[in-house]
Amino acid sequence: MNWNNELTRILKIKYPLVQAPMLGVTTPEMVAAVSNEGGLGSLPVGLLSAGKTRELIQKTKELTSKPFAVNLFAHDIPAIDIPQTEALQNKLSDIAQEYSLNYQRVDVNLIHHYSYQEQIEILIDEKIPVVSFTFGLIDENSIRRLHDNGVIIIGTATSVREAVHLDNGGIDIITAQGIEAGGHRGTFLDDEPLPQIGTFSLVPQIADKIKRPVLAAGGIMDGRTIKAALILGAQGVQAGTAFVGSDESLAVNSYKNALKTSLDTDTVLTRAFSGRWARGIRNAFHDQVQQLNITYPPYPILNTLTAPIRSAAQKSDNKELTTLWAGQSAAMAMLKPSAEIFRALIAETERLG
Ligand SMILES: Cc1cc2nc3c(=O)[nH]c(=O)nc-3n(C[C@H](O)[C@H](O)[C@H](O)COP(=O)(O)O)c2cc1C
Repeated sequence: MNWNNELTRILKIKYPLVQAPMLGVTTPEMVAAVSNEGGLGSLPVGLLSAGKTRELIQKTKELTSKPFAVNLFAHDIPAIDIPQTEALQNKLSDIAQEYSLNYQRVDVNLIHHYSYQEQIEILIDEKIPVVSFTFGLIDENSIRRLHDNGVIIIGTATSVREAVHLDNGGIDIITAQGIEAGGHRGTFLDDEPLPQIGTFSLVPQIADKIKRPVLAAGGIMDGRTIKAALILGAQGVQAGTAFVGSDESLAVNSYKNALKTSLDTDTVLTRAFSGRWARGIRNAFHDQVQQLNITYPPYPILNTLTAPIRSAAQKSDNKELTTLWAGQSAAMAMLKPSAEIFRALIAETERLG
């Protein structure tokens, strides 16, 4: 099978298969394993400090000399309403107490959210060849700085309108993220009502509308789904959930096992963990926050408040109080090394001819 196309040429990779950036799950080891196999690993650094960003990049570089992408979050930094934030945290503490979870509350006065703008110069300095982002369109100056340094930029769209917006902004490759996708929706133009277009409908409509290469994301789990995405007009695919169960993933055991035992109906879209819509396997925390009927603060405030609960839950391998981000095809995930998962995806696609 001939895998060469415009996308593999631009990204300088052998196979047009991108391991999705997954903050909280992806490790430098996962990124390097995929890049070493000839795909494109993606290192997520959204919400992280400049120092941590550089540290993770350098760690990844120790493990691979192949190209990999670094993934940013393009959202604005919100002002923090202290009384509202404290009131929210009180409600979250009640939930944690109900489940006897021992965790450290956030000092609301000390909350600081980093912007992607603090990371751009590090990516240029580290000679990162590909930068992807979600939750918006990065600013013109950052696009210019990256392009002037030969960086290929990938943006995320959940509707044709968002894809056109990214195209007009000069973004080189568009990831079309269908509603099946695990993790946060990349939506940034119309989140009320949330675009809920499936990968099968979104990919051909974006591919027809814009000239740039399209990556299909959402439900890519095996050779059949890769083949289908390519037939629909994508030049490549971005798979996330397929790597959540990998040996190199940070997902705790109960999370990995939940993937394998999940039904097609088990994932839900929820704002309970971060305030932004995201897809994961339904659990107690989702249900509890749902019942509170809260007004969600702008992202990432709630994400910051739930972080200590999630991390305490992960320490005790408690899947009920942490994020179980996964797409609608979660049960098709493999619990294997990332390189084996990657090779299986490629081999299955090749068998289909
Ligand atoms: C655990 C998890 C974390 C994610 N974190 C990010 C992230 O940090 N940045 C990003 O652009 N997308 C993130 N996503 C979304 C993926 O990029 C991608 O759109 C999605 O995984 C594709 O659908 P699939 O899970 O069905 O393969 C995440 C997805 C998952 C499952």
